Amino acid sequence: MKVSIGIDIGGTGTKFGIVSLEGKVLYQGAIPTQSEAKFEDFIKLLAKEIKKGLDPKKYELIGIGVGAPNANYYKGTIEHAPNLRWKGILPLANNLEDEFGVPVVITNDANAAAVGEMIFGGAKDMKDFIVITLGTGLGAGIVSNGKIVNGAHGFAGELGHTTVNYVGGRFCGCGKRGCLETYVSATGIKRTVYKLLADHNEESELRSVSFDELSAEMITKYALKGDFIAIKAFEYTGRILGTKLADTVVHSDPEAIFIFGGLSLAGDLIFDPTKEHMEKHLMPIFKGKIKIISSQLQNQSAPIIGASSLVIDKLKKDQEEL
Ligand code: BGC
Ligand code: NA
Ligand code: ZN
Repeated sequence: MKVSIGIDIGGTGTKFGIVSLEGKVLYQGAIPTQSEAKFEDFIKLLAKEIKKGLDPKKYELIGIGVGAPNANYYKGTIEHAPNLRWKGILPLANNLEDEFGVPVVITNDANAAAVGEMIFGGAKDMKDFIVITLGTGLGAGIVSNGKIVNGAHGFAGELGHTTVNYVGGRFCGCGKRGCLETYVSATGIKRTVYKLLADHNEESELRSVSFDELSAEMITKYALKGDFIAIKAFEYTGRILGTKLADTVVHSDPEAIFIFGGLSLAGDLIFDPTKEHMEKHLMPIFKGKIKIISSQLQNQSAPIIGASSLVIDKLKKDQEEL
């Protein structure tokens, strides 16, 4: 049976799947992303884990698709990723080709999620939409006229590093200050909780939690229990996200914006302020027209399936050109 491999490299974990050509995940696994000091060692470990499931009697591997932060689609590299421990330019596609001897396609992690949403999720009938991923960082996959926008240099959609604070703001892993993802991401909301705790005297169970213990799920849990700081943290996060989305809409006039990833599982806590502030800041011509939707693929392997389908597409195109 012919298969492809889909890989999703995140700030914390890396997931992979062996996927049938129809998009069914046949085998999957995960490893921590930051475990190895050297990128080459990380790739070796990843390849070893994948090969455990890649029984050559059952599967014929035809290609590998990868979604990764700061991925350069044209060069097959990861470049200067703020949330990975390996700095500089990483030859991801080459390293994987050496391990598996098949074609490898690399794309931005949020782009892979957008492709997954387009094929298997809520964007099946849409030609213009955006997927925002909220994890360690904030990513965006922009689909315009049915196609992922890659841009001139392969980096289109780096929304997480657009500015929301013009007079300073939080330090970002990219080297700048005031970037969107320092406020709106799983790590951003943690920073907000600490800021709110310092600014307010209200009682909060979050006061006794250390930064390492604190997680987006925990903030959600406390917010649902009525914790003042946790609720305020979601309002603050949604306000910034919604305002930024109102600006983002002007570039491609999407039918919908899908929100994917850990933080979006907080439901109305994050969606209500996001919608409210987006509407408030939208130009009149867009008001009431842009849907904000929770991704339908949350717990499925959207980026894995999306990434794996990219390589299948590429192989088909290469065939047609022959
Ligand atoms: C990176 C993006 C990525 C996002 C989510 C950001 O820090 O710059 O490329 O899509 O994190 O992982
Ligand atoms: Na992107
Ligand atoms: Zn940044």
